[in-house]
Amino acid sequence: MARQLRIAMVASECVPFAKTGGLADVVGALPDALSALGHEVRVVVPKYGSIDPAKHHLQPHLRQMCVWMGNAEEWCSVDRARTSGGVPVYFIESDKYFARKGLYHDDAFNDYGDNPRRFAFLTRAALQLCRDTQFSPDIVHCHDWQSALAPAYLKVWHWNDAILGKAASVLTIHNIGYQGVYPAHHYDYIGLQWSNFTPRKFEDHGNINFLKGGIAYADLVTTVSPTYADETRTPELGYGLAPYLNDRGDDYIGILNGVDTAAWDPETDMLIPARFSRHDLRGKAICKDALQQRFGLENRAEIPVVGVVSRFADQKGLDVLANAIERIVQDMQVQFVILGSGDKGLETFYGQLPARYPRIIGSHIGYSDELAHWIEAGSDFFVMPSRYEPCGLNQIYSLRYGALPIVRNTGGLADTVEQYDERVGGGTGFKFQALDANAVYYAVGWAVSTWYDRKHHISKMRRRGMGQDFSWEESARAYLNAYDRAIANKHRL
Ligand code: ADP
Ligand code: GLC
Repeated sequence: MARQLRIAMVASECVPFAKTGGLADVVGALPDALSALGHEVRVVVPKYGSIDPAKHHLQPHLRQMCVWMGNAEEWCSVDRARTSGGVPVYFIESDKYFARKGLYHDDAFNDYGDNPRRFAFLTRAALQLCRDTQFSPDIVHCHDWQSALAPAYLKVWHWNDAILGKAASVLTIHNIGYQGVYPAHHYDYIGLQWSNFTPRKFEDHGNINFLKGGIAYADLVTTVSPTYADETRTPELGYGLAPYLNDRGDDYIGILNGVDTAAWDPETDMLIPARFSRHDLRGKAICKDALQQRFGLENRAEIPVVGVVSRFADQKGLDVLANAIERIVQDMQVQFVILGSGDKGLETFYGQLPARYPRIIGSHIGYSDELAHWIEAGSDFFVMPSRYEPCGLNQIYSLRYGALPIVRNTGGLADTVEQYDERVGGGTGFKFQALDANAVYYAVGWAVSTWYDRKHHISKMRRRGMGQDFSWEESARAYLNAYDRAIANKHRL
């Protein structure tokens, strides 16, 4: 093995402690995979009010830590727990910033006004923690805008520090649609010097853009699939940052996420009604039967069930599905089960569908890990009409659970799903190109007609998908390569 690296990972979410989306899954799993390869990893996250200290065995670690922001001195304490793989996770405790239930917004989905301060503070605190605990990282790995200031703090403040001076930084972009853009008056508190408030670094139409600053300062920038790395270099999907990503040239790369194969394994999953494998799908039939019953659907094995588990956000294209779904269930013999929350209009629409299409469409508006597992296990197909999708985890869970993905050909969906080949029954799912109701309608129709007309192809595709390896090990090795490159870049400067 190459030399052992010390890696400090800073993020706003981490499974099983705090999650709103796939970022949490990645931050919960990648450290364990790196640790299994022999590296020393520490994770730093906020101690949100929603985290139950007893349930997660949090232990007090530092009673007092002082964090210097640009124009204020903040005090916090730090707790510690471990991931299932034994990696230490540090929780920054600050009543002022994190003792609320929501991660980013209140119950009514209003963003907290002090988000720029909360996450600048988190990031600064994570670096301070390295100093106070004498942990000298080779790599500081930050994720999304919430911790994207870390590379700048390292270069502006800690370049000559005994503990942090040698740390190279890697920024992973999980979603370029969220950049952390805030009014400039927060900049004094953030404390990164007004001379850096320039269009090439932090300034964005008079505001502060956290992610842009991260892209400028990180020694290497990654995103979560190769196709999304290409797409974000274009005006259409770069959300204004394409020129800056292009400026980074080869120092911007895509690394496909793995999935937590322990949590999402139909052979051992205790959340679902029965277990199954690619060699024995009898358990899947039991799961489908239970799913149909739980959602009040007509209890017939021969009707295919299409699942949806998603945040109701613009990115996910569920507005497009909304324009197709009624036509689909009117024209085809097929059922839907939908789980999600977010956009109020979509919550109302999908929440009311079961009453309008009883025994054909079931839905649950909310967030439920158990139901997510039930839907993956009990569905025959799984639809994701994403506008864009940096990686996407649900289509990978679907492949593992034998629910064939019906996906838009974008980002990580393009990289993980292989197109069905009608001649021989090849591929693992059904991909469509256009982002409109007709394209969704015909893609679902293609899947449904395959179900009724070429059943043996469905079985073949299921077995192929279920046999694929999406474990973290390969991705973790790719991150190690990225870390080496970041270190080389840092020393070249
Ligand atoms: P994103 O992070 O953009 O939401 P991903 O596909 O990467 O998309 O990850 C989504 C994760 O969140 C998956 O683990 C999925 O199961 C979970 N998830 C999303 N919505 C819900 C929900 N309503 N209930 C339970 N889990 C959900
Ligand atoms: C983001 C993206 C999603 C990706 C996840 C984890 O939430 O929207 O596509 O899978 O991050 O990287």
